[in-house]
Amino acid sequence: MPLCSNFIRELPVPDACVWRDSPIDGLLNITRGEKVVLIRVVVLRDYRSLSEYAAGLVGQRIMRKPAAVLGLASGSTPLGLYRELIGMVKEKRIDLGQVVTFNLDEYYPIDRESSQSYHYFMRHNFWEPAGIPPERAHIPAGKVDDIAASCLDYERQIRRAGGIDLQILGIGVNGHIGFNEPGDELIRKTHLAALSPETIESNSRFFETAADVPRMAISMGMGTIMKAREILLLASGSSKAAAIKEAVKGELSTMVPASLLQLHPRVTVLLDREAARDLG
Ligand code: F6R
Repeated sequence: MPLCSNFIRELPVPDACVWRDSPIDGLLNITRGEKVVLIRVVVLRDYRSLSEYAAGLVGQRIMRKPAAVLGLASGSTPLGLYRELIGMVKEKRIDLGQVVTFNLDEYYPIDRESSQSYHYFMRHNFWEPAGIPPERAHIPAGKVDDIAASCLDYERQIRRAGGIDLQILGIGVNGHIGFNEPGDELIRKTHLAALSPETIESNSRFFETAADVPRMAISMGMGTIMKAREILLLASGSSKAAAIKEAVKGELSTMVPASLLQLHPRVTVLLDREAARDLG
């Protein structure tokens, strides 16, 4: 299957694809029963191809709608996508000056100027180099007195912007999206979330000591995410393989928040071979 690398073009979406024993570049339409396509999965050779493909898709959406509202994720997975998009901006193939962005989450409590904050991460890794004006780049506040009012305000800002056109997601090893952690129930709107032990463990790679790793975050809720008109979930590496299998092929369960994406009408899951390992 042609990959989108050096220029933007319509991404081919075959009706069906043969899923071989070993993952190949291609599309996997997971179906349950007759002809019910629940989720579209694209498997790419490696992280670089995944990032290029993702950038092609995002670039295409921005060319169609220059003032698109993008939902953004932090963490390691989208870094390659962000680098590709920045390259496209520098080559003047796209302009991100009109987009409006809303990040999924921010640690709590944390000062936005702290080098550990997601605000800092986004500013340095994407917003500034991509030329996204600060007033158009939104992220939940990590240090506020009135958390409930601040969460409501975030929802209001998303609504006022017209809702999210394209939401980019990573996935936690436990199946979380945003910081909607597995549990008996999921929260619909932006809220203060307690991070699960697995998430705290995964995030510890970014901090000097275990004690420094945040235990809480402000996160968009599952309803906020599901209301996006289109969703693009990225996963790379074998550590995500089990979560991806559960999310894509497993039963719908609040214990695997990403499994609820099966209910979304327009979701694409982009994987490298290692993340797709358990789908065969
Ligand atoms: C980050 C976020 C999280 C991450 C997930 C994967 O804004 O919402 O859900 O996407 O924890 O993180 P990485 O990409 O670092 O493996």
